Amino acid sequence: MKAIRIHSYGDASVLRLDDIPVPVPAAGQVLVKVAGTSFNPSEVGLRNGWLRGVFELALPYTPGWDLAGTVVHGAGNLAAGQAVVGRVDGGAAAEYAVADPALLVPAPVSVPLAHAAALPVAGVTAWQALFEHTGRDLRGAELFVNGAGGGIGGFAVQLGRRAGARVTATASARSADTVRRFGAAAVHDYSLGLPDARFDVVLNLVPTGDDLAALVRPGGVLVSVTNPFPAPAVHFVVRNRPADLAQLVALVDGGALDLDIAGVRGLAELPAVHLEAEAGTLRGKTIVTPGG
Ligand SMILES: NC(=O)c1ccc[n+]([C@@H]2O[C@H](COP(=O)([O-])OP(=O)(O)OC[C@H]3O[C@@H](n4cnc5c(N)ncnc54)[C@H](OP(=O)(O)O)[C@@H]3O)[C@@H](O)[C@H]2O)c1
Repeated sequence: MKAIRIHSYGDASVLRLDDIPVPVPAAGQVLVKVAGTSFNPSEVGLRNGWLRGVFELALPYTPGWDLAGTVVHGAGNLAAGQAVVGRVDGGAAAEYAVADPALLVPAPVSVPLAHAAALPVAGVTAWQALFEHTGRDLRGAELFVNGAGGGIGGFAVQLGRRAGARVTATASARSADTVRRFGAAAVHDYSLGLPDARFDVVLNLVPTGDDLAALVRPGGVLVSVTNPFPAPAVHFVVRNRPADLAQLVALVDGGALDLDIAGVRGLAELPAVHLEAEAGTLRGKTIVTPGG
């Protein structure tokens, strides 16, 4: 099968499209024919070695944490033919991937299967940020989403709005319309600096040196998924919780959550996607498909 693999730590040229054997599922694992994975920016850190120590790669390493596809060898409660989505520890940037069935949930039926790969990392991070780490009911809250044009941000704006918050979001011109369509009441162009306002909840999705704590009202909370801020701000790493993913799938199929698919690319294009991410030209979610 075709798979993209990281052969050593380094620039995007260490990603190569290889022909390798289809992986053999271990006892209790499923084999999935991949419809799509999605690019997540931490993949650049995995590739160039910035995340060594946290994630030591067994090289050559097949990236792809988001998996959407069809089970071809069933196990556990998943039979062959079931369309699934879930978060795996790499391996989805390939034609086939193995996975623990407990980490997979039935894929949404209302969107193309490959597009469902937008959900696991980005969607679940937005979900846990808002519904776990803010520690509060968002009804009536003023919510500020910094970095709403990105993969997590599109979900955060929609989920925050749905939970009853009034959302102010930062975006540049290329993302402003999408962010408004997702329910932001106000869009602030981040090239102008921080807004002159205060919020109950500030959700930071951008690596930044800005003093976002200054935007938090007394009694409010700052949650960051990138750099930590001094206490009492909250910083967290997303947990792989399929129950959260299943809630997102239900919202998608209920017409209550849109996927912000900015592009669908072939496996061979993954090095180019990394270069674009490093250049800051990606927005929304980019799907990578072996069929592309
Ligand atoms: N803690 C965790 O568990 C966890 C989990 C997943 C990801 N992360 C991290 O979370 C961050 C966001 O992930 P992501 O997938 O959403 O990233 P992403 O899709 O790569 O975000 C790209 C977006 O960032 C926006 N942006 C760039 N510079 C900005 C600035 N100065 N101010 C506001 N927005 C800016 C751009 O918006 P425009 O289009 O509007 O220009 C762009 O669309 C990454 O650093 C990622 O590594 C953490």
